[in-house]
Amino acid sequence: MREELISLREEALRDIAAVTNTPAFERVRIAYIGRAGRLTQAGEKMRHVPKDDRPEIGKLLHEVRQVITGALESRAAELRAAMEAAELSGVDPTLPGVAFAAGYLHPLQMLQKQVVEIFRRMGFALAEGPGIETEWHCFDALNTPPDHPARNEQDTFYLPDGRLLRTHTSTVQIRTMETQAPPVRIIAPGAAYRRDEVDATHLAQFTQIEGLYVDEDVTLGDLKGTLEYFFRELFGADTRVRFRPHFFPFTEPSYELDVRAAALGGGERWLELAGCGMVDPAVFERVSERRGDDAYDSRRVRGFAFGFGLERLAMILFGVPDIRMFVENDQRFLSQFSR
Ligand code: PHE
Repeated sequence: MREELISLREEALRDIAAVTNTPAFERVRIAYIGRAGRLTQAGEKMRHVPKDDRPEIGKLLHEVRQVITGALESRAAELRAAMEAAELSGVDPTLPGVAFAAGYLHPLQMLQKQVVEIFRRMGFALAEGPGIETEWHCFDALNTPPDHPARNEQDTFYLPDGRLLRTHTSTVQIRTMETQAPPVRIIAPGAAYRRDEVDATHLAQFTQIEGLYVDEDVTLGDLKGTLEYFFRELFGADTRVRFRPHFFPFTEPSYELDVRAAALGGGERWLELAGCGMVDPAVFERVSERRGDDAYDSRRVRGFAFGFGLERLAMILFGVPDIRMFVENDQRFLSQFSR
């Protein structure tokens, strides 16, 4: 029995070492430690070993089993490693990976989203209107007289059919009031067009953000509070706003709004950022004529409106020295705004 176990161990180690693939490995494993394997059979023979020899033979049997299972385990590990190495042959794992380029918003889009988000929190709904407009929506309904310089062909792009590219987003005030009864509270970002000479601060197409709030009890205090809150949200709690009297045909009184904040280059400088005012009753009258009802009865409803340029805001906020950089699509410029 003793010799039998020793030669069993030698044969097993030889067979295990000779194995080169998984099926062969399985055959050897079953032949030795399977349910009817040779080691299992040897165990059964223990019954016939004389009682006195049993402790010694039992110990030897245990050792042989440990040697064989150990050899099987390490051979299995070697086979797995060899298989992995075969799979990876021809692959150089030290080469750099393929970079995943995630997209990001254009800086103007990013800022526009942020602006709209602040007004939405105050209950303003997103609104829009067409870029190609009628003279009526762009000027007449907004109380702009026929001889006003903004209507000049030098300043405005006219189409051959008499329509035009809107010179401001105030047209969306009119479009909204034509179709919706008060209360209306809208924020309307969109393109505006002017026949300006293109330079560091002017493009022929730029972006405006228009706001309008009409109800029965809207006051100048609401206008001031709304814009002050907006600019504080955008530029920080230290932001100060100043309303300077101005003139627009469609608001009365009208103001230009100046802002001062550490985020805007710090300084003592007031920056002119928006136009605003209380909706002129003449505008409600034009809208009422068009609607044919008294939803915008100028004796009953009040409103405020404001508008500002997105590019100018972005230039100041991001320290961009030339407005043309926003439309050149130079990745070296744009990628600086990715987050
Ligand atoms: N539409 C004006 C402009 O383009 C801005 C403005 C909007 C002023 C609303 C008052 C009210 O300059």
